[in-house]
Amino acid sequence: MSFYSNTSITRRLTLLFSLASSGVLLALGLVIASSVEKHFEEQDMEVLSGKMELVRHTLGKFGKLKSPADLENITALLDNSLIGHHSLEVMMLDSSNKVLFATSTGSLSIDSIVDSVNRKPDHPVIWKRADQSYRGLVAKLPTGDADQPDLTVAVAMDMVHHEVFMQSFQQTLWVFVGCAAVLTGLLGWSVARHGLAPLHFMREQTKEITAHQLDQRLNVGAVPIELGELAQSLNEMLTRLEEAFKRLSGFSSDIAHELRTPVSNLMTQTHVALSRPRSADEYRGILESNAEEFEHMARMIADMLLLAKAENELVILNREKVNLATEILALFDYYEAVAEEKELQLTVEGGGEVVADRLMLRRALGNLLSNAIRHASSKTAIQVSIQATQQDITIHIANKGDPIPEEFLARIFDRFFRVDPSRQHRTEGTGLGLAITKSIVTAHRGTISATSSGDQTVFSIQLPITH
Ligand SMILES: Nc1ncnc2c1ncn2[C@@H]1O[C@H](COP(=O)(O)OP(=O)(O)OP(=O)(O)O)[C@@H](O)[C@H]1O
Ligand SMILES: [Mg+2]
Repeated sequence: MSFYSNTSITRRLTLLFSLASSGVLLALGLVIASSVEKHFEEQDMEVLSGKMELVRHTLGKFGKLKSPADLENITALLDNSLIGHHSLEVMMLDSSNKVLFATSTGSLSIDSIVDSVNRKPDHPVIWKRADQSYRGLVAKLPTGDADQPDLTVAVAMDMVHHEVFMQSFQQTLWVFVGCAAVLTGLLGWSVARHGLAPLHFMREQTKEITAHQLDQRLNVGAVPIELGELAQSLNEMLTRLEEAFKRLSGFSSDIAHELRTPVSNLMTQTHVALSRPRSADEYRGILESNAEEFEHMARMIADMLLLAKAENELVILNREKVNLATEILALFDYYEAVAEEKELQLTVEGGGEVVADRLMLRRALGNLLSNAIRHASSKTAIQVSIQATQQDITIHIANKGDPIPEEFLARIFDRFFRVDPSRQHRTEGTGLGLAITKSIVTAHRGTISATSSGDQTVFSIQLPITH
């Protein structure tokens, strides 16, 4: 595992490349060596079986082998027929394993011949004697006399030439494989470096991207297909980072902007109050007005904290079964006074239950309802409808009043966004309500949307029943 995670790809490819080619060369060398060896064996066998045939033929000519003269005749005949075959050894034993004939070198041992006598005919036997190897054949051959027991005949050839050849062949093979491994290693290294050049190119490109240049993208067309997907994913990551970065910097400038006005108001008010002595009632009035401003700021700060938590998925939901109609009715009670002031009619139809955080959900629905009440024209109706299916539940909150212009619909869920900031009194809203509602809905794996046409504005929340 650590080999794969830490080793450089160039090194890894070089190693694998030279290992693979050495393996192939080695296998090839071994195949060649074994077929050469086989060829030698076949050659030897041809000579050996020829000689064995010759001995059989010579023996066939004789009848009884009783007198020493018979033996001498055979020996002479065999000697004659073996003239010119110096590396060939022949030994002939009678039924009591007594040597009847042996070539002059006498390198074969009687024991090893006797041991091998029951081997399959045509199957070579390898004998080792005094650091020398012999390949031989052993056979029981009949004499010309059927009453006579068979004789044991061994023919063998010294393998020294073959062994010397094979040794030098193997030496050459190892040297060749070693050199080839080094050479293919070098080749592999250069091929890997060349092949990985696009990675270096990508690295150079990414080096140029800093927090202030998040709009830069990697050139997907300039890298091979295999890296194209990676470059594409990196580009997508950059897009996400850029958006998050923009949001973050926008958020901090928004905060500064939003806090500057109330703080400067408080400052001015305080300076004016201090500019001359005032009565206790006047001080009380000023402090009350300041307290209102402080409350507004405290609310805004709490809202921002909640949003920051939601963004980092730190909001912990206390899930329980929530009856939506009951919640909506509770909210109607809460907003009753304001609604009555504008002579609004609040209605709810349908119902259903979801598993959710009751307080959070109440806050989200409360934000939508307070917006609807604030923006509804007097003497109109605010209709809440709850539709449940097997999987999810949808809550629509509709009001009649000034619609939200089409171009702003997508932005109303942004923090601090107000359709017309100048139209609203500052203490009315911070522009965080819908952002908070959206983050609560998202935390519950739901979705929120808004439509506005004619004089009708509808906010819809869709929540999964369980999650
Ligand atoms: N039902 C609605 N009809 C018309 N406009 C709406 C409606 N709901 C929201 N808006 C517009 O969307 C803007 C954003 O609403 P949001 O609730 O986020 O902020 P807010 O109500 O101004 O402040 P807060 O909710 O923090 O007190 C509002 O300023 C308003 O212009
Ligand atoms: Mg609001």
